[in-house]
Amino acid sequence: MAYLLGIDISTTATKALLIDEQGAVVGGTSTPHDLSAPQPLWSEQDPEQWWNATRKSIRDLLQVTKVDAAAIAGIGLTGQMHGLVMLDAEGTVLRPALLWNDGRASAECDAIRARLGLERLVAITGNDAFAGFTAPKLLWVRQHEPEVYARTTQILLPKDYIRYRLTGAYATDKAGAGGTLMLDLASRDWAGDLLDALDIPPAWLPATFEGPAITGRLTAEAASATGLREGTPVVAGGGDQAAQAVGVGAVRPDVWALTLGTSGVVFAPSETALTEAQGRVHAFPHAVPGRWHLMGVMLSAAGSLRWYHDTLAAGLDYDTLLDEAAPVPPGSEGLVFLPYLTGERTPHADPHARGAFIGLTPRHTRGHMTRAVIEGVSFGLRDNFRLLKEVGLPVPRQVRISGGGAQSPLWRQMLADVLGVELVSVQTAEGAALGAALLAGVGAGLWPSVETACDAIVATHQATAPNPEDAARYEEAYAQFRALYPLLQPFFAPR
Ligand code: XUL
Repeated sequence: MAYLLGIDISTTATKALLIDEQGAVVGGTSTPHDLSAPQPLWSEQDPEQWWNATRKSIRDLLQVTKVDAAAIAGIGLTGQMHGLVMLDAEGTVLRPALLWNDGRASAECDAIRARLGLERLVAITGNDAFAGFTAPKLLWVRQHEPEVYARTTQILLPKDYIRYRLTGAYATDKAGAGGTLMLDLASRDWAGDLLDALDIPPAWLPATFEGPAITGRLTAEAASATGLREGTPVVAGGGDQAAQAVGVGAVRPDVWALTLGTSGVVFAPSETALTEAQGRVHAFPHAVPGRWHLMGVMLSAAGSLRWYHDTLAAGLDYDTLLDEAAPVPPGSEGLVFLPYLTGERTPHADPHARGAFIGLTPRHTRGHMTRAVIEGVSFGLRDNFRLLKEVGLPVPRQVRISGGGAQSPLWRQMLADVLGVELVSVQTAEGAALGAALLAGVGAGLWPSVETACDAIVATHQATAPNPEDAARYEEAYAQFRALYPLLQPFFAPR
């Protein structure tokens, strides 16, 4: 029996997942990370912490599963996207990594737009500049820490730092590279003109590989640090969203993925390098060779419900809270919630947007408020679907739903009604690590392609179809929801 190892360097933990060649999960381990915010808007982590967590998670996994390391045919990497790790000529980390949720580089985003023009920036990279993306943060370091910048000879994404520790190679995957704002979307490699325009040395960037391609093999040193076999192949893998999509089987244009975690992500595979003219949805290569994807990211999805629960209904379990919302009619009798508690990426690209309850009357109960919260998040996701369709993507045949929020039958039905699509669940909770393991399996030759791997392994269950009557009842509430952000935006803007 051959085994495959997926490693996910997420924001909160490093997870290791072992599957066998039939796709059965043999075991999973997780080692938590700290997050540091030394100044407002900053979000940093020490790359050494990821390496220690990787070693521990792998060692724990080998111990619990008792699998012989020699039977592991390949390793796939995934993890938080957009992070900036800076190394000197000896491969030493020069400063803590600047993470995807670091907001310090908004002036650099303006500078990038001014230098290239939004139209050209989107035409090259597929994306607008977001403060969390890698290039703006690199420009921030150039401006504010010139001594660090001067010593830099290599930059890496978080999971690619772990790749470097495992294999000694500087390499990245195309999907993750898309999130740096330095990739030419159509050619799937570094954008020379853009690097010139921003004066970023191309030699600092790692080589890019398709998701299942082997980027190196485990060194003797890494083998002794982890307990794995020297020479085990390590494939490129993918940024967490692309790997998650592989893990749930969203690898062809007719199946999208909807992840309802703290954030809400709508992920749409495409055959070509499509973009939204203003860069309001992200456009990156997929971890599937030769495919791309568009993606809408809502910052507070299940995170809105968690905030609401912790602040206004702490002590009540989620099932009871949501049960109170079930008898409330669609539209919450005129109560609307805007879910922009932590600003928004898609569709508004507005870090200053705020959450709001609008339309409260004495008639409204806690059940109404709960229902309004999950309706507001569902409407925000519908905004994402609308934008993706405007780009020219066909309506998907099916949407694979995962994440904590997908557990509630009320919320699932509401989403099916509001989005007007069939939702199905997948069997595993560890989507991104599973996707990375499947990419490793393709690289190791267990399956001929990512699509065949997904067809063989990813099992769906629990389909929820839209109810046309309720779907119609949400239309008016959705229209109200859409009208509110433009009206409130001047109030949200910094004064
Ligand atoms: C994707 C994104 C997040 C991070 C952290 O654009 O910002 O998915 O990768 O998980």
